[in-house]
Amino acid sequence: MEKTLVILKPNAVQRELVGDLISRFEKRGLKITALKMMTISNETATKHYSEHRDKSFFSELIGFICSGPSVILQLESDDAVHIVRTMTGNTDPAYAAPGTIRGDYATSPGHNMIHASDSVDAAIREIEMFFSKEEIQDYRLAVRPWL
Ligand code: RTP
Ligand code: MG
Repeated sequence: MEKTLVILKPNAVQRELVGDLISRFEKRGLKITALKMMTISNETATKHYSEHRDKSFFSELIGFICSGPSVILQLESDDAVHIVRTMTGNTDPAYAAPGTIRGDYATSPGHNMIHASDSVDAAIREIEMFFSKEEIQDYRLAVRPWL
């Protein structure tokens, strides 16, 4: 099954929306196979967002993502990357449709609540960056035949 990496950013934790956001994924039928809370280090954040290193917002982005604890998840389903990106919504919440996480909870790109892998290759790279093999659970979801 396809895997994707989600980060519930520090403002999702501070706004006490972690449960709401995780619940959306569970209700949709995504299987949680890894989950932890951590304060992302400057080194990991810089590696994770390296494609943006020359952008004007880079230092603000790194400062924010490291500013407090985040919640990191590995989610699995058929087409998990596309499904979770669609649930996440446009990078700029001003253009994110209602019903998406950014469209329901955010107003600015800098505080857009959530990161989700944007391709299968990115997901593989990001999962390796955030989770060790021991932190990932391999199990069968009993409701799977009903999804
Ligand atoms: P993410 O990587 O966090 O899932 O977001 P994304 O794919 O939707 O957007 P991306 O282009 O990868 O940008 C990464 C993060 O940089 C911040 N950003 N700020 N101020 C700005 O114009 C601006 N543009 C992007 C956002 O926090 C975005 O999530
Ligand atoms: Mg991105």
